Amino acid sequence: MFKTILAAYDGSEHARKAIEVACDIASTYKASLHILHTPQLPGETMMVGYSAVPLPPSAEELEKAGNEAIEQARGIAAQHGVDQPETMVRQGDPGRNIVEYANENDVDLIVMGRRGLGQFGTLLVGSVTHKVSQLADCAVLTVK
Ligand SMILES: Nc1ncnc2c1ncn2[C@@H]1O[C@H](COP(=O)(O)OP(=O)(O)OP(=O)(O)O)[C@@H](O)[C@H]1O
Ligand SMILES: [Mg+2]
Repeated sequence: MFKTILAAYDGSEHARKAIEVACDIASTYKASLHILHTPQLPGETMMVGYSAVPLPPSAEELEKAGNEAIEQARGIAAQHGVDQPETMVRQGDPGRNIVEYANENDVDLIVMGRRGLGQFGTLLVGSVTHKVSQLADCAVLTVK
């Protein structure tokens, strides 16, 4: 039934679980596994006069953080029987990236954590999961 599965990884324990579940489904259905990560670093701040002005992280910092996260994700997949996942680091808005990547690659199942790295969420579902559930053209499995 499922041929191409996309796991969305943000480095959180929820997303680790999502990869584990995605690996299990990929093995069961002999599907290919893709893993997508969008790096999101807290920006630095610079003092201008008496005010702290936020500075976005540089492209190099984002790329380095992205590659580290993808290495972690590969490690998790390898531990769960998937040695050669397709991996992608894409900068920008995580939710939009996940939906676009899924469309471009004929993904038929997206697996993601119900929550992620965010610490202040009052909603049951994180904003990225909420957005993807609304916008994706394929099935979305949220993992707790
Ligand atoms: N930057 C990202 N790159 C890839 N996948 C992501 C990213 N951010 C979130 N996800 C996916 O979405 C799931 C839910 O994360 P989400 O960001 O929606 O929740 P949150 O961090 O708890 O809340 P919020 O970000 O709204 O404060 C994660 O477990 C992961 O699967
Ligand atoms: Mg988040």
